[in-house]
Amino acid sequence: MQKVHIFDTTLRDGEQVPGCQLNTVEKIEIAKALEALGVDVIEAGFPISSPGDFQSVVEISKAVSEPIICALTRAVKGDIDAAAASLEFAKRKRIHTGIGASDMHIKYKFKSTREDILKRGVEAVKYAKKFVEDVEFYAEDAGRADLEYLAQMIEAVIKAGATVVNIPDTTGYNLPHVYGEKIKYLKEHVSNIGNAIISVHCHNDLGLATANSMAGVENGARQVEVTMNGIGERAGNTSLEEVVMIMRTHAFPYDTNINARKIYPTSRLVAKLMNMPIQANKAIVGKNAFAHSSGIHQDGVLKMRENYEIIDPHDVGIASSEIVLSARSGRAALNHHLERLGYELKPAQLKNAYEKFLELADSKKQILDEDLHMLMGKTLTSPKRIETKLVEVVCGYPLKPMATVKILVDGVEYTTSANGNGPVDASYQAVNASVIKAKVIKKSLPVLREFLIQAMTKGSDDVSRVNVQLEYKNKVFYGFGSDTDIIVAAVQAYVDGLNKLI
Ligand code: KIV
Ligand code: ZN
Repeated sequence: MQKVHIFDTTLRDGEQVPGCQLNTVEKIEIAKALEALGVDVIEAGFPISSPGDFQSVVEISKAVSEPIICALTRAVKGDIDAAAASLEFAKRKRIHTGIGASDMHIKYKFKSTREDILKRGVEAVKYAKKFVEDVEFYAEDAGRADLEYLAQMIEAVIKAGATVVNIPDTTGYNLPHVYGEKIKYLKEHVSNIGNAIISVHCHNDLGLATANSMAGVENGARQVEVTMNGIGERAGNTSLEEVVMIMRTHAFPYDTNINARKIYPTSRLVAKLMNMPIQANKAIVGKNAFAHSSGIHQDGVLKMRENYEIIDPHDVGIASSEIVLSARSGRAALNHHLERLGYELKPAQLKNAYEKFLELADSKKQILDEDLHMLMGKTLTSPKRIETKLVEVVCGYPLKPMATVKILVDGVEYTTSANGNGPVDASYQAVNASVIKAKVIKKSLPVLREFLIQAMTKGSDDVSRVNVQLEYKNKVFYGFGSDTDIIVAAVQAYVDGLNKLI
């Protein structure tokens, strides 16, 4: 296996994203996580850009010992001086210097000539070499640069001492085959290319950053510049997790040193500290990357995970695939979750549970474990003397709340309407009138000692859970109800308590 070096620029290119700025303590936490993940190089910052960035490179250099610590500069002496000073405490250090290589940058950014720019690049490398042995040179906007000129520039900077040559597709413009050919051309036309490692640094403006990086590797690059979760300027950089898992999933003759099981925890840490949520369908680390929601896929995954998964979620530090219960789920998925929660159902019970599940799933986007417990409570308990059949309320400002409740008492139907000071009170009055009519309670009515309503999880489509305490003849009876409609849940809880006391 040949080694592909992972150069992580989460703390430099990633941190340039508006809103993603970190303080030094947070940067150290991420740098340590990257070290544990096994990256080869951490680009810790751009020291000349601010005193804070300078100090972060200093502190990261002290806190981290395994990876090379790299500091970015322009091809400017002052930048290189600052980078060298910030790396003082690094055990292994690299200066990353460079200059624009495309005619666009040469003419419109530097207002200069190809000859002058090449000379400035070479001088920057020579100057950086005075401070550190390991100097990486970036030919900015190499993706749009003239190939012959790029080759001349790369040859000259290697001659000046560059140990790594970075060929950035700064604007994310290249197509994979074009970028791959660019790397191949440099391999074939730069006479001293064997003295340096070729590095690929791709941006994702057309969604091609990972494909381009892999094309570069297939054509001889042996360092890939990445960020965690693909964060970075504009549409972002190449994702660390994607590159690493592409190499593990396919039979390439090269691999990285990454401990893939740490990918997910590191991804979460970066998302949290950088305040940058990960899109749900992001490859490898997105919330849905290992979630199966359609009945056909769920059934296939339950029979054999590999039917619909090319990566084992454990391999990237995710506890398990997820079978998301929704109205599209089949019986196999429901049974899988019920078994997981300790319910073993006979076929007839499962059929009954599945019907109730579909009713609930139609009114709630996603069914969670709490919902299943509630569903099982409804499915597995023995028949009750009082059953709720209908609850209808009219309420709201400035109406006087009124409820109509239909209940069955020992199989006989009672429908009563009543007013109350709110929809729950009106519903309870209606139930009381019916149970008195049915003579199941002969003397005084129970007293409602406590009424507690809770959302099970979150969201306005959530299932509410109501607990009541009824006091009757000096005894306390507890009732429980749950439903996506809070009034229905409240009536169920009351009726549950009544069933217990009668
Ligand atoms: O995208 C780019 O060209 C860069 C360089 C500074 C390496 O980030
Ligand atoms: Zn970049």
